[in-house]
Amino acid sequence: MSLIYRRKSNDPSFTHVIYDYIGEMKPFIKRVRKPHLLLPMVLFKSIEWGIYRWYKTPIRRFYGVKGNELIYMITNACNDRCPKCGIWERPEPRDQHLMIEHFINCLKRLHHNLYQVTLTGGEPLIFKKDVMLIAEEAKKLNVPMVTITNGRFLEEAFLTRYKELGHILVISVDSVEREKWNEFRGRKNFDIVMPKIMLAKEILGDQLRIQSVLSKESAEEIPKVRDWCKQHGIQFNIQYNQDFGGTWTNAISEEVNYDNDTPCAARKNICIYPNGDVVKCFDHRRIPLAKEPLGNIAKKDIIEILCTKRSTEVSKIMKTCNLPCKNMSCNKPQTLLFN
Ligand SMILES: C[S@@+](CC[C@H](N)C(=O)[O-])C[C@H]1O[C@@H](n2cnc3c(N)ncnc32)[C@H](O)[C@@H]1O
Ligand code: SF4
Ligand code: SF4
Repeated sequence: MSLIYRRKSNDPSFTHVIYDYIGEMKPFIKRVRKPHLLLPMVLFKSIEWGIYRWYKTPIRRFYGVKGNELIYMITNACNDRCPKCGIWERPEPRDQHLMIEHFINCLKRLHHNLYQVTLTGGEPLIFKKDVMLIAEEAKKLNVPMVTITNGRFLEEAFLTRYKELGHILVISVDSVEREKWNEFRGRKNFDIVMPKIMLAKEILGDQLRIQSVLSKESAEEIPKVRDWCKQHGIQFNIQYNQDFGGTWTNAISEEVNYDNDTPCAARKNICIYPNGDVVKCFDHRRIPLAKEPLGNIAKKDIIEILCTKRSTEVSKIMKTCNLPCKNMSCNKPQTLLFN
């Protein structure tokens, strides 16, 4: 099974379509009691059959060649304690952490569909070896990769190989001043991480990005981060504060910054939790039908999971979903992100 609609390999032959049509119509015709209704009934049934045949592959409207982003929250565990974020409070138990083979397999199965694989967390570099395995595999499969990190575990060997692989690294920075930095990270590590950012810039060049979260608490700091990035020639992105289980508050009213006409780009996303559970966006709990994960990649093939009726229904609902999470960087087309 494939998520990409290829006419030659996936389409039935012409004779198969005729047999299918006759097989459907014969028993139907036998059930029509009034002869004068036969023609219109057959016409309606044919239309229904035609729609059904088309509808049988609705996944092709959601997944396509290089049309999707695979986002892996590799762990909930973190070495920082940012007040904006509550993810670090719920690290997954060791025995519930997905074996890397399952994710690599998922990547291999989906690679034709992906324009990008993104690693986030918790702190992805707690699993640096696995991040590098994914980076190597993504390169082989020709899938660009983005890793979002707090920068604490960066070092030369990792950065050098990552650079060679051509992937993008995003470091999260909400202040460039020691005191605020330490407050925003919940850890006094400004003097450790800042030199690592400079090293990352030196090695990665324009493969490095910086992302800040705009909230009431960080509003005064963000222009300084932007200026700092400009000064160092680093592309910069702002993400609006969202409910990550932390204590920061929105600086901007939720209504102004999302528009209702553009469907949420998250409907094209495929998201994997640290235990291998699959969802369509990390805010899936807001959609009643999507509350429960669609499946788990340790137990079932990812393509089978994405082809279920519920998965298709969830994708359809997401098309008109207009919640504040639509503003998140991972739910926007990548072209809009960095400048
Ligand atoms: C959850 S973190 C995980 C990766 C890594 N630990 C880091 O901080 O970069 C992913 C991104 O979400 C951002 N983030 C954290 N709390 C947020 C919040 N309340 N609203 C919006 N974005 C948030 C982080 O700044 C980071 O850029
Ligand atoms: S934002 Fe990132 S670095 Fe900060 S606590 Fe959350 S996961 Fe950790
Ligand atoms: S608006 Fe939020 S809940 Fe709705 S599809 Fe987008 S990310 Fe998911």
